[in-house]
Amino acid sequence: MKIQATLIAILAFIVMPARAQSPLDTLTEADIADGKRLFRLHCARCHGIDGAGGEGSNLVRAKLKYAPDDESLIEVMGEGIPGTGMPAFWTLDEKQATRVAGYVRTLGRLEAEEMPGDPLRGAGIYRTTGGCPACHIIAGHGKGIGPELTFVGDRRGLDYLRRSLIDPADAQSQTMGYQDYLTVRLTTDEGSVDGLRINEDAFSIQVRDVGGVVHSFRKDDLIELKKVFAHSLMPEYGQVLNERDMDDVISYLMSLRSDQ
Ligand code: HEC
Ligand code: HEC
Repeated sequence: MKIQATLIAILAFIVMPARAQSPLDTLTEADIADGKRLFRLHCARCHGIDGAGGEGSNLVRAKLKYAPDDESLIEVMGEGIPGTGMPAFWTLDEKQATRVAGYVRTLGRLEAEEMPGDPLRGAGIYRTTGGCPACHIIAGHGKGIGPELTFVGDRRGLDYLRRSLIDPADAQSQTMGYQDYLTVRLTTDEGSVDGLRINEDAFSIQVRDVGGVVHSFRKDDLIELKKVFAHSLMPEYGQVLNERDMDDVISYLMSLRSDQ
């Protein structure tokens, strides 16, 4: 009896797979096709029809920051990513989420989205003509009036980046997770100030204007406090940059990825 039990234990050890089993291992091609259908239904509006990104991350990458393994990929769908625009999908059951994950993994094996221009040249324009470091931080350089762009290529795809530069109010006002960048117009009897709200309580509000200067007001002193959702502090670059410069800056932003 004892020998038998030992033998079984040894056998079990030998046949045990070397790699921990992934829930995606059992998916068939039909399951993955269904995952693609579900992806187009639920995810494409943010991640792009082919997953190359938009308002949501570019998923055509071998390594995903929030989803290093298959379990965490399924978890990201169930729970979302708090503090970002990635919502939780309670409507997908486990089987469906597993299928979508299977499809997302196939994307990681595709080529990344092609850049429209030259990222190196774009880096120069970003710093000079663009004047972007006045409002954005990349790898510790610049001012943090707008969101940090260090790994913006992980988060956003080509179309969204282009729209962000040409019509920021339109592209970005719809981006969830950007309540932090609420633009407000404060009017007192001395005039008005536009700025990003950095703090607000029942009695006071603080904003930072485009020059980086922080203004603090008592609400009692305000004639009007207007939240300007449709307005972005970010300038429109369609007139400032020519087509080639624009393509190069976009390529530079696409290249800012954590896996490169
Ligand atoms: C309303 C827009 C929106 C929808 C819909 C959406 N996502 Fe996202 N998703 C985002 C955003 C924005 C991020 C980026 C979070 C960040 O890095 O700041 C993200 C991030 C992710 C990530 C993490 C990527 C990484 O770099 O680790 C995965 C995976 C993901 N989404 C999968 C999905 C899947 C699968 C669906 C459909 C079931 C979906 N998303 C639907 C907006 C969306
Ligand atoms: C005067 C300040 C200012 C300047 C200059 C500026 N931006 Fe912005 N940018 C912002 C703010 C603020 C936001 C946040 C959303 C909003 O309010 O529109 C933003 C958002 C963005 C986004 C969207 C990021 C995301 O994750 O959704 C990108 C991309 C971007 N800026 C790129 C650039 C580039 C490239 C330049 C230079 C060509 C530039 N910005 C110049 C203020 C600025």
